[in-house]
Amino acid sequence: MSEQYILSIDQGTTSTRAILFDQSGQAVAKVQRELPQIFREPGWVEHDANVIWDDTKQLLNAVVLEANIEPYKVAGIGITNQRETTVMWDRVTGEPIAPAVVWQSKQSDEIAEQLKAQGQSQWIYDKTGLWVDAYFSATKIMWLLDHVPGAREKAERGDILFGTIDTWLLYKLTNGAVHATDYTNASRTMLFNIHTLSWDEELLEAFNIPKAILPRVEDSAHVYGYTANYVFFGLQVPISGIAGDQQAALVGHRAFDVGDVKNTYGTGSFIVMNTGDQIATSKNGLLSTIAYSLNGEVTYALEGSVFIAGAAIQWLRDGLELIKSARETSELAQLSRIQHPAFIYVVPAFTGLGAPYWDQQTRGAMFGIMRSTTKADIVRATVESLAYQTNDVILAMENDTDLKMDHLVTDGGAAVNDYLQQFQSDLLQLPVQRPEQLETTALGAAFLAGLGVGFWQDVDDLPVLTAVDIKLPDASKRDEMAQTYRRWQKAVAAAQTFPLQDD
Ligand code: G3P
Repeated sequence: MSEQYILSIDQGTTSTRAILFDQSGQAVAKVQRELPQIFREPGWVEHDANVIWDDTKQLLNAVVLEANIEPYKVAGIGITNQRETTVMWDRVTGEPIAPAVVWQSKQSDEIAEQLKAQGQSQWIYDKTGLWVDAYFSATKIMWLLDHVPGAREKAERGDILFGTIDTWLLYKLTNGAVHATDYTNASRTMLFNIHTLSWDEELLEAFNIPKAILPRVEDSAHVYGYTANYVFFGLQVPISGIAGDQQAALVGHRAFDVGDVKNTYGTGSFIVMNTGDQIATSKNGLLSTIAYSLNGEVTYALEGSVFIAGAAIQWLRDGLELIKSARETSELAQLSRIQHPAFIYVVPAFTGLGAPYWDQQTRGAMFGIMRSTTKADIVRATVESLAYQTNDVILAMENDTDLKMDHLVTDGGAAVNDYLQQFQSDLLQLPVQRPEQLETTALGAAFLAGLGVGFWQDVDDLPVLTAVDIKLPDASKRDEMAQTYRRWQKAVAAAQTFPLQDD
């Protein structure tokens, strides 16, 4: 049989990529486009859903040309996406009724705050595994229905459809033939009951959302539909895998065993632990979510979402202009460690604190600076904050599950930072392993799409990427690390109690 490929679309917050994988899991071609962010009001983040679709269509074609393969050799297409981001469009015209409301956007904050004040958080968590926050789709949908003129009436008539980005792309790829999503994306809407595995009537009522707008929910590896004629060289290629990006990364790491944990250091950090067929309930502010669904069986996960990780490195570059490129940070941090071994702390709570704190009011802070503090020290403290925040979440996970991790796998932009990887390993006192090929999210979507069309038969048949970098913990640093972590916790507590406004 001539070589075949799986094409993965990774539609993230800041870029859209298309990557072609071969049967050994190697990326043979990759193309990408930056995605413009729309900031109409302070705190709002929006995307143009038509731009996302146009970029995706062009990239699908471009990656095949880049790889110089015949398009019919693409056996299946996988989609992975920024989660929660909410698109609503007209069923008849296929046109979005408003810009997509991005997961980070705060325009539905008030709705979330109101629900919390009414004491609705607990029952919603019990059904969805999610703590009420503007982060999830439900309050965003509500906001759109209430703010786009005529939207609610049209939605009630069944003339408006809702989707996360996967659903929007699937709809466009199939020329409107398929309105569906997978279990992982559904589990991030706050409308999906993760116990009964269905859209929940009580939640729909509480959020005042008509059921008719919601997509069908399918397995993550499943033939959802086929590309319409005008999309991909006139070919009908199966779209055979879908997962939210953090879940796809878990699959890309082949983290299929209970207790496996991955961390993607992207804009934020998303730490996800496989909890098998059990929904682990968190006492520590973590989310319970769906990891993937294969052959009609759902696997659950615990997740800690940290809002600022790589974004703190961007701040060093674009805000403070301390560095020209993120690549400098590893060396600078190393230099600081040698020159000024004392720790300083940066708490990058630029938009509040995510897991395990869930505190939207706190803002960032820096502690321990002296006359001798240098640029390198600030860079180091910022890099270390990524590791501390990961540690916060992992301790919470171990506490919630009684599972003891034996290693951490990582990916995402900041995972290339050797200083960070070693510091993370020393802090956790565990091996930290990063694949050489960091496109783990796209690989996960490719795995799902490949499973969906029998390109790989089952999870045991998925290729194991052996090219990895492993950082082993320095046992002699155990006490020093325990001490610095305790101080980090105090730094967070101090930032939380700092009064930002006069009483
Ligand atoms: O939950 C939001 C997350 O899926 C966004 O991921 O990689 O697009 O920043 P990313």
